[in-house]
Amino acid sequence: MTSQSRDYSADLALAHALADAADAITLARFQAHDLVIETKPDATPVTDADKATEKAIREILSSQRPDDLVVGEEFGAPTPEAIAGKYYWVIDPIDGTKNFLRGIPVWATLIGLVAPDNTVVAGVVSSPALGRRWSAAQGFGSHVRTLGQPEKSIHVSAVSRLEDAQLSYSDLIGWGERKTSMLNLQEKVWRTRGIGDFWSHMLVAEGAADIAAEPVLALWDMAALDIIVREAGGIFTNINGVDGPHGGSGISSNGTLHKEFLNALNSSLSK
Ligand code: IPD
Ligand code: CA
Ligand code: CA
Repeated sequence: MTSQSRDYSADLALAHALADAADAITLARFQAHDLVIETKPDATPVTDADKATEKAIREILSSQRPDDLVVGEEFGAPTPEAIAGKYYWVIDPIDGTKNFLRGIPVWATLIGLVAPDNTVVAGVVSSPALGRRWSAAQGFGSHVRTLGQPEKSIHVSAVSRLEDAQLSYSDLIGWGERKTSMLNLQEKVWRTRGIGDFWSHMLVAEGAADIAAEPVLALWDMAALDIIVREAGGIFTNINGVDGPHGGSGISSNGTLHKEFLNALNSSLSK
């Protein structure tokens, strides 16, 4: 199927149904006394909720979109050769697992759909413990739904100077040679918050923050965020300014601030 003939609003409706199934599993396990926590080979934690959520999403996708492929954090990805020319869903069953297992409500299920040309065409970020869900599909704009409220359209901010900008990030780990410039930027901007994970980027899409930055991320951390930020009028690149969620790091902004922020961030790199 070509990207032109596919109905992304139907894919978005399916992504919402996947998020509903995910929310039922994750919320029931959040702050459960018998939560099972294991350590993965990369030394990061995973819970029974992460695994059950990704399994449930994969099961629904295999019946609703049998021709699509699935890339998931917990159960792996097909080979690049198998993915070439296909639509594929990118799933992070729980983004913010460390928050989840400590009882901090900042975590979400991230669901993205990637087209054969590798652009993300639909995405949902569902954060049931915060009572919020963000979504977007190519050409349909970005929206947020707060528990019990009608869905509303969202847009990035109009802030045009770094001195007036609100910057959100996770922490100071992983910045390497850019750490000095990141610290300098924190002094230059109006305000910083270590909100972290998906939420930093969703606040950019809503216009509540102006820049979100993460130095080390995987595709499943970013696919859903990319389309929601872009459809809200913003820009999503990696740390070197390459568009999209495939570059190993994630910088969201309102667009206006993007170049100046990246230039400043990369100014401490050795020439
Ligand atoms: C993590 C989050 C976090 C980032 C880490 C990721 P997880 O994902 O996206 O913001 O700093 O690098 O591993 O493991 O909670 O899905
Ligand atoms: Ca993640
Ligand atoms: Ca995860």
